[in-house]
Order: sequence, then structure tokens, then C-alpha cells
Amino acid sequence: MNPAPTFSAPLQYDAIIVGAGAAGLFCAAQAGQRGLKVVLIDHAEKVAEKIRISGGGRCNFTNRDLDVRAPHKHYVGQNPQFCRSALSRYTPADFIALLEQHRIPYEEKHKGQLFASRSAEDIIRMLLAECATGKVEHWQPCSVKKVSFLASNADTASAGRYEVHTDRGMVTAPNLVIATGGLSIPKIGATDFGYRVAQQFGLPLVERRPGLVPLTFDGQHWQAYAQLAGLALPVEISTGSKKERMSFHEDLLFTHRGLSGPAVLQISSYWKEGTPLQINLLPGTDMADVLQQAKAHSRKLVTNELATHMPTRLADAWTAQQPDLQRPINETSDKALTRLAEQLSRWEITPSGSEGYKKAEVTLGGVDTKALSQQTMECKSQPGLYCIGEVVDITGWLGGYNFQWAWASAFACAQAMAQAAAATKA
Ligand code: FDA
Repeated sequence: MNPAPTFSAPLQYDAIIVGAGAAGLFCAAQAGQRGLKVVLIDHAEKVAEKIRISGGGRCNFTNRDLDVRAPHKHYVGQNPQFCRSALSRYTPADFIALLEQHRIPYEEKHKGQLFASRSAEDIIRMLLAECATGKVEHWQPCSVKKVSFLASNADTASAGRYEVHTDRGMVTAPNLVIATGGLSIPKIGATDFGYRVAQQFGLPLVERRPGLVPLTFDGQHWQAYAQLAGLALPVEISTGSKKERMSFHEDLLFTHRGLSGPAVLQISSYWKEGTPLQINLLPGTDMADVLQQAKAHSRKLVTNELATHMPTRLADAWTAQQPDLQRPINETSDKALTRLAEQLSRWEITPSGSEGYKKAEVTLGGVDTKALSQQTMECKSQPGLYCIGEVVDITGWLGGYNFQWAWASAFACAQAMAQAAAATKA
């Protein structure tokens, strides 16, 4: 990292990029390598902390199953089609090729998810090396105090340029890239900077809320399940009315305060406050039939019968709440068994809230895509101002889709800035 000199006269660049996370680092590298003079500014002590902690420290950097022709399958936002152009111009295969060029080993895990085999540090080192190749100036930690734009008809040397006042002095450029991400995990540097700059320039924002986040239940309601903390099982989880119903087949994890695991993180991006979740705790099993067959042949307690199909602790907690199930299965009424089968295949519960930004992996909402060009990420009403990565109202599913959006939107922006610079010089 650079030492922290301060400058009195404004330094001139082709592009100022604020935010040295996934999108900012990649954009800086790509723009620098296309000949632009780039300064990359971030206020955090450590570079790219989110990459470092992602994927359990191994960074799930992309997903092979991404269908670039149908981004709505894996992205959430008011207009998921917006990301189609960028995603199809910089694909998972392109990022994989970059990793291979840097000889970084990676492996595929669940459902097309690609992880660094050794550590997320490999990805950070690669991005920093790419920035070095592009001769990017990297100021970190460095706070941004103020951003302004001087109209092209202004009577000053900075006309048509952005001025960014930082604690190391002022920098100016015709291009300003907002790559400051979302609000999740404030303790490692997340701020609302991007949204504030967007508002300053009159860009519309889509309401923000935590996504890919554990869901919580009120204490009394959850008492019976709190003892199950740590227990995981595969489920089918759904939410939403018929027309907009979303379902995922993933693992569910019980926690002290509610539910987590991939199933719940995925559904949380679609869940609306006050509405229920439906969970099939035994997907692929016809429990009504299983219980009737058991009744005909077995004298085991209902809980022991259930425990042959699900974790014992869950079977015990479930039957403990219902006196008419605390007996041998052959002595249990058909009505009670039918009700049990229905409960297990359609457990309906309404979360009271979520764990919020301190645990969320992403922020839903953000800069409204209507304000941006889908080819370049440039603001339609504010030439030279670009928004990339998570600050935009595009949120991916769990599984590498968010980093792929960061790489692709950064690439589109860098390419556009370089083309615009070349056109100006010609
Ligand atoms: P990112 O958050 O990466 O970078 C923003 C940068 O802006 C930060 O460096 C921050 O310090 C800086 N900044 C903020 N405010 C500023 C200010 N006022 N002044 C200067 N700088 C400022 N995704 C995925 O695809 N695979 C995965 O495995 C994971 N795993 C994962 C785990 C956890 C725990 C979290 C929290 C998130 C993930 N994600 C993920 C999501 C992924 O990390 C996220 O979508 C991307 O990092 C977004 O990239 P950006 O560059 O847009 O923001």
C-alpha cells in the first residue's frame, strides 16, 4: 500500500475510482491496462476485505451455471435484464481464464460454484498485480470528503471534470466511478457513500434492505426450536404468492435466533416482511404414505419412526409439541398422522425480521438501473459518472453470482471509459 503523501495542487487523472473492493480493483486494472491514468481510493485499512472473508475465506469468485441470456434466473432487482449486456461481454469463462493465466488453483463445489483452492488471498493478489500492470495509483486508507462536478462551460481548468477532495488532497478527472458497494458488514468498511453521491447527482435509488441474510423469529415463537441450533438438513423452501413464487432446494440451518443456511439466505432475497415461508422438511418423501405404512407394521414411538427420515433432535422437538403424537405409531390416530405429514411437508412460519446488515452478505436495491446505460454503467443524466458492482440495484444469488456481476460491470465501465478517452483524443 502507498504511504500517505498529501498534495496541494489538484492531481489530474483520466479516472477516479472510489472503492477498492471487487468491482473497483478490477475496473482500475482494466482501465489502467487500456492506457488510462487511474487513481483508486478506499477509506478502509485493508484492501478488499469482503473478498478476503468471502466463501469462508476461499472466495466463491464465479458460477459456471450462470446463464447470461437469462439473468433473471440468478439476479434480483427491479430490472434484472439490465445486467445481460455486461454479463455476456465478460463471462465466468473470462474470469477463469484470468485465474489460469495467474496460475491460481480453483475448484468447483456445489451447483457450479467456483472457489479458490488455497485462499481468497490469491484472488486479491491477482487483482493487485493486475492493477500494478495497469500502473494504477492506489490510495488506501484515504477518506473522501467531498465530490463535485464542474460543468463543461465553467470558466476553470477543471471544466467538465469531477473534483474529489480527499484527506491526501484534491484529484480531478473527467470520469468518476462509484464502486463503494452496499451496506452489509459495516465493521469492515461498508458505507452509504455511493447512495449519497447518487443522490447528489439526482439519480433515483431503489429502497435498500439486507439480502442473503439469516432470518429471525420472535423469542416466544422460537423457544421450541432454539435448542436445535446447529442442526442442518436439506429442505425445499418457498415464499411468495402463486404468481411470484420462489423456491430453493438447499440446506437449512437452525440457529439460536432463527433460520440460516443456504436455503434461507437464498429465500431471504425474495422474502417480504410480514409474509410466511413454506418449508418442506422432507422433500421427495411422501410422508402421508410413509406414516400409514409404518402404522400398519410398527409399534415404535412416532418420534422414533420420524427419526428414520430426519435428524433425531428435530423429530423429538416436533413431536414434543403435540401430545397426540407422543405414543406408539400404531396407536396414533389417522387424523393426527395426516396432520403431521402435512406439517412436515408444508411447515409455514413467518419470520419477525432478519439479522440485518451486520450479517447480510449483500444489499438489495441501490442505484436504479433506469438511470444507467446497460452497456457502459454510465449515468444517463451525468456524463462521466459511472456506478458498478453492488451499489447498483442488481443482486445475485448465493454462489458466486455477486462477484461475477462485480467483474462484469467493472469491465463494461473500463471498456467504455477507454473508448470515450480514445474518441476524445482522435
Ligand atoms: P465491495 O464491498 O467489495 O467493495 C466496496 C469498497 O468500497 C470497500 O473496499 C469499502 O471499503 C469501500 N468504501 C465504502 N465506502 C467508502 C467510502 N466512503 N470511501 C472510500 N471507500 C469506501 N459474493 C460472491 O459472489 N461469492 C461469495 O463467496 C461471497 N461471499 C460473501 C461473504 C460475505 C461474508 C459477504 C459480506 C459477502 C459475500 N459476497 C460473495 C458478496 C460480495 O462480497 C459482494 O457482492 C462484492 O464484494 C461487491 O463488490 P463491490 O466491489 O461492489 O463492493
